Amino acid sequence: MQFDAFAQQKAIDAKPKKISPDLFGIFFEDLSYAADGGLYAELVQNRSFEYNPADNRDWNSMTAWKYQTDGFGYGTISVETANPIHQNNPHYILLDIQDAGQKGVGLENGGFDGIPVRGGKYYNFSVFLNVISSQPLPLTVSLVDTKGRELGTASFTASAKGWKKYSEKIKVNFDEDSAMLQLLVKSPGKVGIDMVSLFPEETFKNRENGMRADLAQTIADIKPKFMRFPGGCLTHGDGVANIYHWKNTIGPVEQRVEQRNIWNYHQSVGIGYYEYFRFCEDIGAKPVPVVAAGVSCQNSGGTWKIGSTGQKGIPMEDMDAYVQDILDLVEYANGPVTSTWGAKRAAAGHPAPFNLEYLGIGNEDKITGVFEERFRMIYDAVHKAHPEIKIIGTVGPSPNGEDFDKGWKLANQLAVGTVDEHYYEKPEWFLKNTSRYDGYNRLNSKVYVGEYASWGNTLFNALAEAVYMTNLERNGDVVRMASYAPLIARIGHTSWNPNLIYFDGKHVFPTVNYYVQQQFASNAGDEYLPGIINFTSADTTAGASCVKDSVTGDVILKIANAGSTQLFGTANLAKLGKLAQKATFTIICGDAKVANTAAHPAEVLPKTTVINMPKQWKFTVPAYSLSIVRIKAGK
Ligand code: AHR
Repeated sequence: MQFDAFAQQKAIDAKPKKISPDLFGIFFEDLSYAADGGLYAELVQNRSFEYNPADNRDWNSMTAWKYQTDGFGYGTISVETANPIHQNNPHYILLDIQDAGQKGVGLENGGFDGIPVRGGKYYNFSVFLNVISSQPLPLTVSLVDTKGRELGTASFTASAKGWKKYSEKIKVNFDEDSAMLQLLVKSPGKVGIDMVSLFPEETFKNRENGMRADLAQTIADIKPKFMRFPGGCLTHGDGVANIYHWKNTIGPVEQRVEQRNIWNYHQSVGIGYYEYFRFCEDIGAKPVPVVAAGVSCQNSGGTWKIGSTGQKGIPMEDMDAYVQDILDLVEYANGPVTSTWGAKRAAAGHPAPFNLEYLGIGNEDKITGVFEERFRMIYDAVHKAHPEIKIIGTVGPSPNGEDFDKGWKLANQLAVGTVDEHYYEKPEWFLKNTSRYDGYNRLNSKVYVGEYASWGNTLFNALAEAVYMTNLERNGDVVRMASYAPLIARIGHTSWNPNLIYFDGKHVFPTVNYYVQQQFASNAGDEYLPGIINFTSADTTAGASCVKDSVTGDVILKIANAGSTQLFGTANLAKLGKLAQKATFTIICGDAKVANTAAHPAEVLPKTTVINMPKQWKFTVPAYSLSIVRIKAGK
């Protein structure tokens, strides 16, 4: 008998069904300055002097730095590599000061487009120094504005031979959007300088080596069920040497292996795997790390073309070690403190496990023999050692096509639990493809839509995504997870558009798409209730869903209308048992073309009111709107 997927789905759709409790999450990739200069609260750019022309042909160890001799001091400055803090962090600055002049001689850093500081706030400064001359050296560290006015300062003396970390707190007295950090040595002498760092005292949850509070809070406010990280293309990298290795990103920050970012800048890996896991925990999201499937990006070497074959495999003789690294990652996340890698997690400050449940292997790779051989090795080893880990495979960069088909074939052969589908398409595509998952065989691998977005940040784009998401909920038995991409981008440094959240040094600008994602993630359910909402007018550009959250008992209705006319319908709540007579009603609506921008950040915001909720709710929703109704269980 032939398998009739649509008939199977129809039957499933007739009854309430369990859907994924982890459906809506986020995907964080260090793209468009998302980590350094973004979520990472570090305010100094190129703190370790490791920028180099491989990152970006115009960059070097002194990028973002200025040699400061304003008070007529003089001496020499050089970039050195002999006897560094650590072999992983080879470059540092050597100052040999003959005359400190009236102000001292040293270094100045302008941060990422200027350092924004606020009067009355404290900032944590630290630096590694190696005093080579015999006398102790007096130093000052100051924040100054563009006219040289001092905003806050601290003084200290360095005397230790060999590398030593010095830490100071600076109180800032005035607001300034474009401050510079000056580190000045006040007397003649010779000193090595590295890891010049400045963090706001207040980071997200006041974590050390933490995240920028406003940006992190905006992400947390989505209430994502999971976070996929660290990429994207960043994970599989630009050639084998650029593959992201998690072990290079843990431990003391001055000992981590910094790396070129595939998006043409530098990764300090100040946010490394420890910080990613901790951030997931802090925002209540399950961690979903993605490791390269032993191959680099097929676009390696700049061949950004469909069908390009810049993909390179880790040499087979190195694959056992690579596979072991992945097994060690599971131990790092979940192992007891007595295990080798669990002990490293504990030493970093987290003895309790991070409760890793999901692991992605591969990112939209080209499905070649080279890929397949390595994917199988990793998959088999992880599956055997950790049957409890839910593995997510990969099926290429598009919603269909050769890699998609080959990826699915392999996943079904190996019975991979879930595969990661990606699509960036026009809003019309999302409206046309609402039944995409109706025909998926429920017995095959499940789906994680790891990256999707319609091409734009207008309300119409966001609503096309909303319509589609009501259908992801309807198919939440087979679509287990979904995340919009990319998540955040720094204005002036975007390598990809559109994004969910834009920011500069001081502000965060959530898009309309953000508010849609937030409404879905914070109003998720784990049971889909069919047949509750019925439209009585044309519905080709609309979608609706009704879910129940078994934890709170709340019932949630979502009605997305990406069409240009009002939409009419009814919600029959009579069959849902006792419910409260009032509900919260949240609506996002406006003109189709409107968008939230830096100049107009609040053009479209969700508005919430309380409404009466009859058992038969007759509704009229406006053109271009998303309505969310949340009804508590009745007493
Ligand atoms: O999200 C941006 C990029 O899109 C990701 O790095 C990659 O996986 C996809 O091509």
